[in-house]
Amino acid sequence: MPHAAPKVTVPELQRLKTATTKITALTAYDYPFARLVDESGIDVILVGDSLGTAVQGADTTLPVTLDEMVYHTRLVSRARPRALVVADMPFLTYQAGICAAITNAGRLLKEGGAEAVKLEGGVNVQRVIRAITNVDIPVMAHIGLTPQSVHRMGGFKVQGKKSGRRPGARERLLEDAQAVEDAGAFAIVLEGVPLDLAREVTQRASIPTIGIGAGPHCDGQILVLHDLLGLGGKFSPKFVKQYADLRGVITQAVRAYIEDVQGGAFPRDAHSFH
Ligand code: KIV
Repeated sequence: MPHAAPKVTVPELQRLKTATTKITALTAYDYPFARLVDESGIDVILVGDSLGTAVQGADTTLPVTLDEMVYHTRLVSRARPRALVVADMPFLTYQAGICAAITNAGRLLKEGGAEAVKLEGGVNVQRVIRAITNVDIPVMAHIGLTPQSVHRMGGFKVQGKKSGRRPGARERLLEDAQAVEDAGAFAIVLEGVPLDLAREVTQRASIPTIGIGAGPHCDGQILVLHDLLGLGGKFSPKFVKQYADLRGVITQAVRAYIEDVQGGAFPRDAHSFH
């Protein structure tokens, strides 16, 4: 009888980097999608604060609350995934003070069932990452295009470009990567950075890098599940690869249902009780 694949853990991700085996990661926000993603063999499920844009219909991730993240993390962890479950810390749940940051990260584990948290920032959140990891809550860092900084960046823009308007952007990104590793992060999400810079970060870092819009040289890759399935909004970023058209599948199914009900083809005897 084949052995069930073992649970993915934080040390296992480090082993995958050392073995140069690519780490696969996707978002999920509820039980049925967490089950499907997990059954397909993904390594990491991120309950991302992309919840705001992918599921809640917001323009940014800024309105997402900690209570909402706890709730959605609980739905995902009820699937008892083999994948490592990482929950995002929403905007202003880790920036306003170390004590609050630890307590808020703890809620995602205690109440949500997450196994690690993710938060955005580099040098500016080094103390926060150190404090959270010091109480044995594993932290995944997120640098580069950090969506919670949308207003500072003036939009969702690639960061660390040589030709960018802010000189020293590449150096700052390298400093951010070093800062989060030094603070004890177990992995780094690299979002929206040029591929050669992502390669340099990946080569320098001893912890795994997980890219999104960061090219092919990271230790792993993450996407928002709704983008991959064709359930995203009208605008699809360049870095998204769509693997299915669920929008088409769903609207076709719903139209067929409407037609059947209106035309009397459903329900029939076979769907009725006698
Ligand atoms: O919130 C999210 O889904 C994320 C990923 C896109 C990395 O942060």
